[in-house]
Amino acid sequence: MPNAYISGTGFFVPPKIVTNDDLSVYMNTTDSWIRERTGIIERRYVEKGVGPSDLAIPAANDALKAAGLSVKDIDFIIFATCTPDYYIPGSGCLLQEKMGFNEIGVLDIRVQCSGFVYGLSIADQYIKTGEFNNILLIGAEVQSTAMDLSDHGRDTAVIFGDGAGAAVISATSEKRGILSTHMHSEGKFLKELWVEAPASKQGRPRILPEHLDQGKQYLKMNGKEVFRHAILRFIEVINECLLANNLSIDDINMLIPHQANLRITQMIQKKLDLSDSQVFSNVHKYGNTTAASIPIALAEAINEGKIIKGDTVVFASFGSGFTWASSIMEW
Ligand code: UT7
Repeated sequence: MPNAYISGTGFFVPPKIVTNDDLSVYMNTTDSWIRERTGIIERRYVEKGVGPSDLAIPAANDALKAAGLSVKDIDFIIFATCTPDYYIPGSGCLLQEKMGFNEIGVLDIRVQCSGFVYGLSIADQYIKTGEFNNILLIGAEVQSTAMDLSDHGRDTAVIFGDGAGAAVISATSEKRGILSTHMHSEGKFLKELWVEAPASKQGRPRILPEHLDQGKQYLKMNGKEVFRHAILRFIEVINECLLANNLSIDDINMLIPHQANLRITQMIQKKLDLSDSQVFSNVHKYGNTTAASIPIALAEAINEGKIIKGDTVVFASFGSGFTWASSIMEW
């Protein structure tokens, strides 16, 4: 049975930098409040007309190049996004067309901040069964257009940003790659982090002028509840993947947690007694890019030489749903 490993990574963030001071023009906030509570210094926003599939193109090109592959070598695309270019069709279809892939299968998945880790699990199954040899996994988001840039939305708007990360998952006969993935959800917390409209259950049309007036089109978050659950679930799911593989905290060479908030990452690090060199963080530069955050961080960690062959790498995510997941691999 082949193993599935990450043969190439890439990332892209839009060039427009939005600093904390830039946000304070629109809402009652300060650079020091945002830094202290989240560790975020700046994030990137797209220009009007740019969607996740556009951000995914340079990320995918870099991942293909790093893997030594071309678009013709890819057998399947998994596109993780909760901010698709359109609701119909999925962003995977747009990427297939824009990059000239063969008429291969494309699968859009949601699961919000956990999209990339869930996607790894899907790719792992297809590779291990021998169905596909090379799968392109994208995490890409345009969250900026779901932000309420007024005082009403300031607790959420300061956190999120736009970006894309890509990984090629390939088959290998070597003893390396994904060891296991672990996925969870708890839908009773759906309203703690959600966008209420447009929605099919609202009736026809799916969004009304009063919904817009009430700001139902914006991402809403109960930050304190999300924070509390995130700490618990991150720790649980990291321990779960270690236990499943008979490994311990000391065996982790690199933990790449979903980049939600520096305070969350620091708490996980402290509770698990991980050293600084075992944990990667870049939330200060990009904010929370939802499904894109782990593949962006992974690509940066690799570019910085922080992950090398043979390393034990752990990914862990938590987000809207709630959903949470982990994946552990031998690099
Ligand atoms: O992928 C998962 C995604 N989400 C997360 O991981 C987020 C998890 N949660 C958090 O990161 C934190 O809860 C936040 C950073 C969102 C908020 O931090 P907090 O320490 O929980 O603050 P808070 O919501 O309790 O608000 C404290 C105060 C409030 O004022 P009062 O009621 O004490 O007068 C807020 O109105 O800070 C106020 N506030 C702000 N002030 C300045 C809320 N947002 C802002 C802001 N600037 N942007």
